[in-house]
Amino acid sequence: MTDKFKKLEEKMAQALLGGGANRIESQHKKGKLTARERIHFLLDEGSFEELGMLVTHRSTNFGLDKEVYLGDGVVTGYGTIHGRLVYVFSQDFTVMGGSLAEAHAEKICRVMDLAMKNGAPVIGLNDSGGARIQEGVVSLGGYADIFYKNVQASGVVPQISAIMGPCAGGAVYSPALTDFILMVENTSYMFVTGPNVVKTVTHEEVTSEELGGASTHSTKSGVTHFTAENDIACIQKIRTLLSYMPQNCEEQAPDVAYESSNESRPELDRIIPENPNQPYDMHEVIGQVIDENTWCEVHKDYAENIIVGFARLAGKSIGVVANQPAYLAGVLDIKSSNKAARFVRFCDAFNIPLLVFEDVPGFLPGTDQEWNGIISNGAKLLYAFSEATVPRVTVITRKAYGGAYDVMNSKHIGADMNYAWPSAEIAVMGAKGAAEIIFKKEINEAADKDSKWKEKEAEYAELFANPYSAAERGYVDEVIRPSQTREKLIKAFKMLENKAEKAPRKKHSNMPL
Ligand code: HXC
Repeated sequence: MTDKFKKLEEKMAQALLGGGANRIESQHKKGKLTARERIHFLLDEGSFEELGMLVTHRSTNFGLDKEVYLGDGVVTGYGTIHGRLVYVFSQDFTVMGGSLAEAHAEKICRVMDLAMKNGAPVIGLNDSGGARIQEGVVSLGGYADIFYKNVQASGVVPQISAIMGPCAGGAVYSPALTDFILMVENTSYMFVTGPNVVKTVTHEEVTSEELGGASTHSTKSGVTHFTAENDIACIQKIRTLLSYMPQNCEEQAPDVAYESSNESRPELDRIIPENPNQPYDMHEVIGQVIDENTWCEVHKDYAENIIVGFARLAGKSIGVVANQPAYLAGVLDIKSSNKAARFVRFCDAFNIPLLVFEDVPGFLPGTDQEWNGIISNGAKLLYAFSEATVPRVTVITRKAYGGAYDVMNSKHIGADMNYAWPSAEIAVMGAKGAAEIIFKKEINEAADKDSKWKEKEAEYAELFANPYSAAERGYVDEVIRPSQTREKLIKAFKMLENKAEKAPRKKHSNMPL
């Protein structure tokens, strides 16, 4: 028996070495952790149970039969984060560059299947040179199997992808199908075709970092939701992110202990500038309203005219969507509509109530926006809010103009509660533009055009640059002092706790993609 135990131990030791000591050293030299080290830091101590440690590939192409590594370049299994079950796969760059082929893909699919059956999140730590070239079409098949399972699992269990090394070719599409992507600065990149192909096809000279590094995808493309300065920071971020989510679509996110105290926030009474065209930072409003130190911003550096993120209110997880008057006046455009729509859909899929702060002058005008489809892209946000059945509450802090008023979680599209501050202006458009259109003739005929315009502008502002016309019709449930906001929201979300709303029966909806 001792021999048999010894053989097992030898095999396990061999598997633990991955591609060998030299390659591990080279991984460390790049500032990267190994696949196993990453899992060690990700999961609660001692909770990892490995699956498929002895799996190998079956290929004999191009001498692969002499290059066999136990585990086939991916470490898979399950464990816990903050005591809750998660499934994980972590690609091992020291084994053929973490490249993916048949057996490697099967291992990933296995943990995804288990995650679906048992209702727990899947976390993928990606560090791979893409399809294993020697295995040819089998590698492509392996990717497609994963893509298919990503889609099956979408909306059933949370799926999180960390990009911790190269991620090229079709490999980028599995992360893109998951709920959240995190990228490590300077050591990770994602692109469909690399710099060499780009140079051949478009004659552009670009580095990997410029083309698909963390800063590119966090600011220009919005592909990544988070960036982290190194592997450890990235892993910590995953642990934090998961704390706001339920295990699956049937459950609620976990609550944290909360003791009620004075919920009044007098600072909010001073936050809106006297001049309605002067910006203020909506982060300050969010910071005053949510529980202290619970803000987890998503897409922080992308489409900054809208803010989205997770927070806690009285210990409960919520999703926050807020216009940002301090950036492009908080206007809605293509990028911000997409950013917010995606976030709203995630929250709705996983039973996370939505809190909206609104200060929006409307949709961004211009040929660029129109030609690139602000109509169908803006419609995505409208669609996402209209479709959401989770508790939804809006606070209009200042401007709620035009179609953007409807889109930003108005009661007309299913919001449960709508509060407005006394500074709210709820109208088809700003008073100046409105006066110019509806009193054009009168203004033109006046001896003093400017003062006529001002007079008519004041008339329109008197009627609509306030929350009261909307409140008279019940579009606004209550006009509140800003300092009362936190207290009102805690009560409103408590009141909505057992909200049950069923969408009409259908195969699936047809979002304007
Ligand atoms: C097999 C691979 C590999 C791959 C890397 N390796 N990529 N083996 N298939 N795709 C191996 C290398 O041979 C090397 O083996 C080890 O991994 C480390 O690679 P290096 O090149 O030494 O490392 P580095 O300089 O850091 O460069 C990493 C890299 C580069 C940028 C990822 O290896 C690379 O460009 N690889 C090819 C990327 C690629 O074109 N993939 C296919 C994409 S197409 P040794 O033995 O020396 O350690 C695709 C289609 C999917 O993925 C479609 C799905 C729909």
